[in-house]
Amino acid sequence: MDVGVPIERHAGEDRVALTPEVVKRLSEQGLIVRVASQAGAKADFSDEEYQKAGASIVPQEQALGCRVVLTLRTPVDEDLRHLKHGAILIGMLDPFDQANASRLALAGITAFALEAAPRSSRAQALDVLSSQANIAGYKAILLAAHYYPRFMPMLMTAAGTVKAARVLVLGAGVAGLQAIATAKRLGAIVEASDVRPAVKEQIESLGAKFLDVPFETDEERDAGLGVGGYARTMPDSWLARQAALVHERARQADIVITTALIPGRLAPRLLSVETVAAMKSGSVIVDMAASRGATYEGNVGGNCPLTETDKVVVKHGVTIVGFSNLAALMPADASAFYARNLFEFLKLIVTKEGSVKIDLGDEIVASTLLTHEGQISRKF
Ligand code: NAI
Repeated sequence: MDVGVPIERHAGEDRVALTPEVVKRLSEQGLIVRVASQAGAKADFSDEEYQKAGASIVPQEQALGCRVVLTLRTPVDEDLRHLKHGAILIGMLDPFDQANASRLALAGITAFALEAAPRSSRAQALDVLSSQANIAGYKAILLAAHYYPRFMPMLMTAAGTVKAARVLVLGAGVAGLQAIATAKRLGAIVEASDVRPAVKEQIESLGAKFLDVPFETDEERDAGLGVGGYARTMPDSWLARQAALVHERARQADIVITTALIPGRLAPRLLSVETVAAMKSGSVIVDMAASRGATYEGNVGGNCPLTETDKVVVKHGVTIVGFSNLAALMPADASAFYARNLFEFLKLIVTKEGSVKIDLGDEIVASTLLTHEGQISRKF
């Protein structure tokens, strides 16, 4: 059976679905791996390395014409037409985007959207959201440090003393926790907030302060428990108290990293225009929910309405970084993690004899199956 790795065509998508390391492991299992020429170039994996690992280097159309096609994102239309009817497509396929799912169903593709895997311990090794969010959280702090015109750590030098930067992290999931850890390593003073009280201990164990917005009603408490580990939209009463606290803490902060997401919903608005206007001049916001928020004055925002997708803008003296694909800014490691996630997923659908078997009794397979036999399998 052949497995194809095409070039990713989306702007700024510098990752590649398989690395030579994983190609080698798949080839050893008897799979034929066809990598599109230059597919790994932007992530620093050369055609020669793939060849050495056992892959054949082919034109893009041939990589797309394999029985199993591995991608980061849904192929653009021009590529999609090269997928065979009944081909298996595995990637981060935006399960909440119904138009996208319809497109795949119409093309007769059996598509697996890896983002839809359950957040269980068994699924951990193939959890692409975690592997990529970890990288994005790290990169968010490095970008913040880059745009922040001062030191991060406290320094005492002959030329004077500088204070440590104050970092505020809103949303302490995988990305937020990595942002906290990275900011601490750089010497910043860090505080963080989340709707899920369960993260308090994790925040504190990283040496940061947990900003608590206590629940006052059963409705707030229920919403705060979330579902499947994910946050839910909080009642307005809680959001108003959180906004007041965030406003106060953001005014004191030098750097704010926002990571708050709710699956299938617009990202919550955590930093209002008034809050940005009240922040110190020269401070930096990295909005990791960029492109996922509500539209404000014609722009799709993130956790902050002033964020502009894939741009760095200065508003009210505050630099707002809105890169929507932070993990792709570290394409070598991001691809290495992703390829290992794919390897683990393939174990669930490829038999020892090297053919595909879709076992809908397997929770991970069933939850990720997006389209099959011309139908959308699961509405998200
Ligand atoms: P995410 O990317 O969906 O959201 C980021 C964070 O934003 C979450 O912590 C969420 O609670 C928070 N958030 C949402 N609305 C907010 C608001 N109004 N104010 C402040 N924070 C807000 O989250 P991620 O990183 O994907 O993690 C989701 C869950 O999955 C977590 O419970 C995590 O512990 C769990 N998880 C489980 C794994 C496993 O067991 N295999 C692996 C990775 C994560």
